[in-house]
Amino acid sequence: EKGGYDYFMLKEIAEQPRAVADTLLGRIGADGRLTLDEMRISDRELREVDKIIIVACGTSYHAGLIAKYAIEHWAGLPCEVELASEFRYRDPILSRSTLVIAISQSGETMDALMAVRHAREQHAKLLGICNVNGSTLPRECDGVLYTHAGPEIAVASTKAFLTQLVAVYLIALYIAQVRGTKFGDEVFAMIQLLAQMPEKVDEVLGTMEPVRELARSLAGEKSVLFLGRHVGFPVALEGALKLKELAYMHAEGFAAGELKHGPIALIEPGLPVIVVVPPRSRDVLHDKIVSNIQEIRARGARTIVIAEEGDTSVEPYADTLIGVPAVPTLFQPLVTTVPLQVFACELATAKGHDVDQPRNLAKSVTVE
Ligand code: F6R
Repeated sequence: EKGGYDYFMLKEIAEQPRAVADTLLGRIGADGRLTLDEMRISDRELREVDKIIIVACGTSYHAGLIAKYAIEHWAGLPCEVELASEFRYRDPILSRSTLVIAISQSGETMDALMAVRHAREQHAKLLGICNVNGSTLPRECDGVLYTHAGPEIAVASTKAFLTQLVAVYLIALYIAQVRGTKFGDEVFAMIQLLAQMPEKVDEVLGTMEPVRELARSLAGEKSVLFLGRHVGFPVALEGALKLKELAYMHAEGFAAGELKHGPIALIEPGLPVIVVVPPRSRDVLHDKIVSNIQEIRARGARTIVIAEEGDTSVEPYADTLIGVPAVPTLFQPLVTTVPLQVFACELATAKGHDVDQPRNLAKSVTVE
């Protein structure tokens, strides 16, 4: 049942190109436009939306954080992202023209369900992104967009996360298409590029041996930091979460721009710091992070840099360089998350942990 792999997690990491492809399947028309039939929220209703709020927990929340960048950029709508457990005890300002998107792999996470009920009471429109057919979340929402990751058995979410990203890109691009935002041509081009992402994820998977080696060499470390900017920031959070839950190691993700506001005090000689570098095409963003890498290296940190293949500008400052295929900035999490999943999985295995069943964790959290 593990298809020849020692752990479900390894199998699920390997299934990601197919999971991404399946989530795109049937949603990009021959004319290059998106159709999201099963969404059950009409185009007219979508045109009325003036604000989007995303609610989710854990890894799904990280998908939500990435969604914000895509929705603001392509759909041109204000977007807030909330931890479901916080949202439901606040007094959020919602109306009939607010679209609340709840992201949950299992569709059974109590905090996410309670957040949806909270939003319904205030007449918001509700859209679920969910991986499990027939689960509770889709029933509680007006519409649903299923991810087609297939059953995810390992407790740590991997392929579901990548398909959640695909789902939020589809939604952001679809809303842009329906509303006809100023990025019309870009939207059309991005839909075409999204279709190529399964191959890009597959490419990354083919180059993971050095990452596994690195992970084994760091099994004795006490702490690992993760840094990113823009959509690389949620990727850093996700990398840290994976390492905590699987390797039981202290790990933290930071927005690289926040370094000098505190976290840089944590940098000490030998501390492994993993940095996610945006594509070179985003010059300002890219240069900023290169100077962050220089700053932490000057303080003796061991820099592990994830950057676009052929990005030679980071070479002088990287103790270890992990190359990923060049893709548009907003899609980069699809390729930069994979090495972090492999890293956490391998490091935890080297420490002798069962990566499918980390201690104290359950696959779906049906209590508050
Ligand atoms: C982390 C992980 C959890 C879940 C979270 C939400 O690897 O799996 O953080 O992402 O419990 O679960 P769902 O998406 O089922 O609502």
